[in-house]
Amino acid sequence: MGTLEETNPSYWVATSPETAFPRYGGAGETVDVAVVGGGITGLAIAHSLKRAGLRVAVLEANRVASGVTGYTTAKVSSLHGLTYARLAKSLGEDGAAVYAGANQQAIELVAGWVGELAIECDFERLPAFTYTESVEGSSDIEAEVAAAQAAGLAAELVEGDIGLPWPVAAAVRLDDQAQFHPRRYCIGLAQAIDGDGSFVFEQTRVTDVDQGDPCVVTTEHGELRADHVVLATQLPFLDRGGFFAKTHPERSYALSARLEGPAPAGMYLSSDSPTRSVRPIRAGGDEVILGGEGHKTGQDDDTEQRYRVLEEWARERFDVRSIDHRWSAQDYMPVDEVPYIGKLTRTSPNVHVATGFKKWGMTHAHVAAMILTDEIVGLHSPFASLYDAHRGTPVSGAKPLVKENLNVAKRFLGDRVSAMRARSIDHLSAGQAGVFTLGGKRVAAYRDDEGALQCVSATCTHLGCLVAWNTAERTWDCPCHGSRFGCDGRVINGPAVDDLEPVVIDDPIAEED
Ligand code: FES
Repeated sequence: MGTLEETNPSYWVATSPETAFPRYGGAGETVDVAVVGGGITGLAIAHSLKRAGLRVAVLEANRVASGVTGYTTAKVSSLHGLTYARLAKSLGEDGAAVYAGANQQAIELVAGWVGELAIECDFERLPAFTYTESVEGSSDIEAEVAAAQAAGLAAELVEGDIGLPWPVAAAVRLDDQAQFHPRRYCIGLAQAIDGDGSFVFEQTRVTDVDQGDPCVVTTEHGELRADHVVLATQLPFLDRGGFFAKTHPERSYALSARLEGPAPAGMYLSSDSPTRSVRPIRAGGDEVILGGEGHKTGQDDDTEQRYRVLEEWARERFDVRSIDHRWSAQDYMPVDEVPYIGKLTRTSPNVHVATGFKKWGMTHAHVAAMILTDEIVGLHSPFASLYDAHRGTPVSGAKPLVKENLNVAKRFLGDRVSAMRARSIDHLSAGQAGVFTLGGKRVAAYRDDEGALQCVSATCTHLGCLVAWNTAERTWDCPCHGSRFGCDGRVINGPAVDDLEPVVIDDPIAEED
């Protein structure tokens, strides 16, 4: 697969075909809606708009579903850990009910499209569980069952055996949820979008959007025009709207394992710390996906250790025959539990955004498809005001927002201090990397396995924080808003759109500060 995250390709990437949609040819195309981002969100939105009779163009910087969508655990569920009790507290029971309704409708939308387009993506219905192994955690589970029921979900409280190889103290069970192969599903959507005046363009990075009538979308291969633009790139690369200050990026880890016996027959998430996620690759099969070990992006010195811990846990809890794939993903967490879906700013009627899916992108991509299709064709969406991208932050969310921004400020300042303390680039051995200060400039240096040195600017091209080395993925990750760059400085994930500048170093020791 030609993805940029090829260091650790996921099971989904390794078991789906390559795609070869063309680059944008720069012919000055005009469409009704340009959708920036060819992950599950962009594709679901584009497919929904095309079904509503609009001409769309999807613009994907790499290959469709090769970013976060190809690196998920792919649970299509309305049961999101311990969400409903918190939502009922901050937004009231009505708010929690709208959230539940939107996600349930999203599951049905996926099921409908899989059937309509005959997409071979192993879509299957399974129960979802949120469980605790501790007696102390049981009261949270009981509260979640009550809140989920009040929100209209057929949640049940269960104990003991929930199909895992260990007993649990208590669990929420919600039937009729779903799972699938996310990349095969997305390729099916992309094939349905392309054609009849609509397009899917790959390897076409968008660098700017000029809001107007029509909007002008600038790509690295030329401009195209659209009445509406949807930014579906996780965190929007346009700073307007301030979403980088209302969300924070988190990385989490997963692996696929083949077991000696059958895999558990449901989708599971623990509410304990550290969190653990379990799902079979196919119900009745012997392969399983296990996940966990989440942390803030760019704020862990040894990401390799995360994989080691997860693997140890896997072998402790399951009869593992082999571990076949391991991968990590990045998600954006909103401050108040609800993603942001709607207009980019209050004064941008033609530019729309969907971000902050808090690790539940499979359903929220489709919630975004429903809300933004209604917004663009001028219909009322029953979900729009809950997900309003410019809603006020509930009082209970205000503190985390302040805390998040404080955290970003600390990274901005603190990283500069630690960069100055780093030793000479010359001390890097093969496979090592670090941030250095050379001639007054912050330099991100990586020595590859052959001993060659690759140096790029350590200053993130989004808003100027210092990047940090990710040992497991061999990428430069920005701790502020989650932009990620390859070891050669290429942008992997936005909001940054520009690569880290290459730095030429003649004599690393002489140039060290
Ligand atoms: Fe915003 Fe790096 S992602 S400063």
